[in-house]
Amino acid sequence: MRRKVIAGNWKMNNDAEQSVQLINTLLQKLPQTHAEVVIAPSFVNLALAVEKTKNSPIIVAAQNMHFAEKGAFTGEVSASMLEAIGIKTTILGHSERREYFNETDESLAKKVDTALAHHFRIIFCIGEKLAERKAGKHFEVVKGQIEKALFHLPQQAWTSIILAYEPVWAIGTGETATPEQAQEIHAFIRKIVADKYGKTVADDLSILYGGSCNAKNAASLFANPDVDGGLIGGAALIVDDFITIIQAMK
Ligand code: PGA
Repeated sequence: MRRKVIAGNWKMNNDAEQSVQLINTLLQKLPQTHAEVVIAPSFVNLALAVEKTKNSPIIVAAQNMHFAEKGAFTGEVSASMLEAIGIKTTILGHSERREYFNETDESLAKKVDTALAHHFRIIFCIGEKLAERKAGKHFEVVKGQIEKALFHLPQQAWTSIILAYEPVWAIGTGETATPEQAQEIHAFIRKIVADKYGKTVADDLSILYGGSCNAKNAASLFANPDVDGGLIGGAALIVDDFITIIQAMK
């Protein structure tokens, strides 16, 4: 079944105290919603976040993980380490990881395999850069990212995948894709998944929009039939804005 999801990607923000404060306020103000609410704090605050959200509907996700089971990978975190503290969801392939940490479609395919082997749910990010959009290559870029990192998967793996379309030119820039641009590419993404895996898999797939999604524009983005929620950066750090975004998901 296709789920509505509102996920907050905290990136490298919030120390332990700030994380607890944000979670406590979020729990106090959390509205009735049929959407799944996800937060992704930094690695060091994940265990704390799991503890603070125990017995609540909030799901805690990692922002990344390594593809190896263990070993000499200084500074990295494995799936088992995340599992051991109660994490079963991870973001993978965020454009900042691709851009600043050299993550490629090939390394991401390995991360996807490891995450699935550990029965994780994956919020997998895709999206084109500004020059690619200007050159009219956005469809091609997004298709390539999905094919290279995800099209080796068997059909049943897709129940664990959530896609997040995040145009790089919209992330943290205040420039948002218009609702029409979002719907157009989300429908395209659903179609390429349908062409490969069939209509049922594509219909059940949640496709989130990310990139300067905020309290003001969320409702118009979410009103589109192929936009199933949002991956929210900056606005997820402001509790009232995040609540408004959750409420915008009808
Ligand atoms: P933004 O970030 O909402 O601050 O643009 C979104 C994201 O990078 O996931």
